[in-house]
Amino acid sequence: MSASNEARAVTPPEVLARKGKQPLVCLTAYTTPMARLVDPHCDIVLVGDSVGMVLHGLPSTLGVTLDMMILHGKAVRRGVDQALMVVDMPFGAYEESPEQAFRNAARLMAETDCAAVKIEGGETMAGTIRFLTRRGIPVMAHIGLTPQAVNAFGGYKVQGRGGDADRITRDAMAVADAGAFSVVLEKVPEALARALTARIAIPTIGIGASPACDGQILVIDDMLGMFTAFRPKFVRRYAELGRQAETAIATYADDVRQRRFPAAEHVFGDTPESRKQGESA
Ligand code: KIV
Repeated sequence: MSASNEARAVTPPEVLARKGKQPLVCLTAYTTPMARLVDPHCDIVLVGDSVGMVLHGLPSTLGVTLDMMILHGKAVRRGVDQALMVVDMPFGAYEESPEQAFRNAARLMAETDCAAVKIEGGETMAGTIRFLTRRGIPVMAHIGLTPQAVNAFGGYKVQGRGGDADRITRDAMAVADAGAFSVVLEKVPEALARALTARIAIPTIGIGASPACDGQILVIDDMLGMFTAFRPKFVRRYAELGRQAETAIATYADDVRQRRFPAAEHVFGDTPESRKQGESA
């Protein structure tokens, strides 16, 4: 990214200032080509640890490492000019202590040139969020269903129903008070999302948390129909690229077997005319 592009990029304070205004548009990306497609339309591009499930075939996000996040962060950086780029801190990279979180967040920022990191957890992570934000690391928080805690939750379950709403409310207030510039609310009931959005001073970014939030985020492969292992209720499919890819691959295989591909237009000649044209590509 050039210095002039840097000047145009959305910043964490600008995201904070969008509280209660036009909804924030956020998507994940993991590769340069996808980042280039997503960037012009988004306020925030998240290099989510969902990359582990979506691109690496892992059964959960627990196996994602800091090195994986750095590799994908670098790739996304090459495709993002105007959106705020946030990179997920993976499981095991920040929970031990604020110092461990700082060391790994600093490495993520230095090596990927991201402008902010995302951390899962509410009240228990508030001290760490405060430690990072006071040392110049903008933090996006993530509460409600935090996928890195899937085993503790006993599955990808809705969080904050009934009496459990108090826990999520304490989490939201704690991360806002600790200095997070925004918070992802995942899989919480609409009434709770609405109440939290009204109560805290930072933007809420919903995923399965209703239109009451200050913004929305989806996993790019979910909304494009490329990740089909399972489909959460909160996903709207804007395309069926997985199905299209399947058809295209089957057609290619058939064409090769039937010798319909390559066709004449894909073949290099060795005539004076083709040599003159300098065919190379
Ligand atoms: O990893 C991820 O993609 C996320 C989003 C679903 C918010 O955390």
